[in-house]
Amino acid sequence: MAKATGFKTPKGTRDVGPPDSARWQALISAFEREAQLANYGLLHTPIFEDIGVFQRIGEGTDVVQKQMWDFLDKGDRRMVLRPENTASVCRSFVQQRPIVPWKIWYQGPFFRYEEPQAGRQRQFNQLGIEVLGSSDADIDVEAIALGSRFLERIGLKRVLLLINSMGDVETRLKYAQAVQDYLRANLGDIDREDHEKIEAHPLRVLDSKRPNTRKVTAEAPRVEQFLSVEAGAHFDRVQAGLGSLGISFAIEPRLVRGLDYYTHTLFEYQSSALDTAQNALGGGGRYNGLVEELGGPDTPGIGFAMGVERILLACDAEQAFVPPDTAPVVWIIDVTDGSSARDLTHELRSTGVSADRSFDHRSMRSQMKAADRSGAAWAIIVGDQEVASGVVTLRNLRESDDQKTIERSQVVAYLVEVLSQR
Ligand code: HAM
Repeated sequence: MAKATGFKTPKGTRDVGPPDSARWQALISAFEREAQLANYGLLHTPIFEDIGVFQRIGEGTDVVQKQMWDFLDKGDRRMVLRPENTASVCRSFVQQRPIVPWKIWYQGPFFRYEEPQAGRQRQFNQLGIEVLGSSDADIDVEAIALGSRFLERIGLKRVLLLINSMGDVETRLKYAQAVQDYLRANLGDIDREDHEKIEAHPLRVLDSKRPNTRKVTAEAPRVEQFLSVEAGAHFDRVQAGLGSLGISFAIEPRLVRGLDYYTHTLFEYQSSALDTAQNALGGGGRYNGLVEELGGPDTPGIGFAMGVERILLACDAEQAFVPPDTAPVVWIIDVTDGSSARDLTHELRSTGVSADRSFDHRSMRSQMKAADRSGAAWAIIVGDQEVASGVVTLRNLRESDDQKTIERSQVVAYLVEVLSQR
């Protein structure tokens, strides 16, 4: 049988290996820490769901129309690789009916059938939070502040926080109608590529970055003219809260975001260190009607998601969030039959000290090279003479003349002691 060869990662996906994967993991830990500080619990949802979970997200959005990665399973059910998590979280809420407010965080892969480009993949990863069951504007502030603190803590400085309000569901519909009427009246001045959206999803035209369209949308009706007194008060409280926390933001009346479920507060974190086409590090907002649309009780919700790949691109651009040191602490150089390396690595690891070694009976020189390359701080060197006398040589690889002979039976305890004094 002929061998199949030449396999590569599917279009729009990539492998993430060391050392990038360590940085990736550290980023998730930083987010987890931030979420835990605000009492959010971790929720895992399935990678695939019934397509109906996401088709609720308004017909006409790009996610539904073109980017859904759907398939028929062996039981002829139409499933989809999850394009985002907000709808999955709401589905989970309806299924489990947890006590509110339900504050959860998540991380994991998501799938959109896109044309890949820098910062846009078919499989990408999100970090996010959702809160279900409270319409308090202070939760909006809590959510936005959590995202801002996270981006700040990982060292990003060139982040812009944009906010807007869509009002309630009724306001959104009325506003969408007014925007559509306005866009239809100015059709001739709008870039052709945006024409289709005017009928299918007029609010998304406001997000367009095409120059002619932008000239037209600059004069478009503003949502604040449509906000009810209540919605206006909610938005005022959000702004006052952010002000009180010292979080800078700008109100962007054209911020509508790509998904159709938003009501009231909308927000986006943009990086001025990235290309404008893909400069959104993350975004979110309120979605007060979504749980009900999925068959649950009337339950307000708010949350956001951030793209791991985008954040790391921004970190690269700003030279922030350096990869953590993953080097082993100790490297065992064993030029006998390898038994000491086998046993010492196990003993060290059992006491919580990371250790590694060369295999396949390499020469002393080759093992020294491997120790240097690994970035280990210490080397334990074992030769025939050492074995005969029950000792080892301990060498500090960071300080050239720091080397001593030590009892084989003492070396692990000695290293644990030295490391604990650091
Ligand atoms: P979204 O704006 O569609 O919102 O995605 C959030 C973030 O995920 C984006 O800002 C971007 O960083 C990243 N992202 C999205 N698509 C891709 C892609 N194809 N490749 C790389 N990164 C991507 C949501 O998903 C909502 N669920 C956010 C939310 C949560 N709203 C309320 N709660």
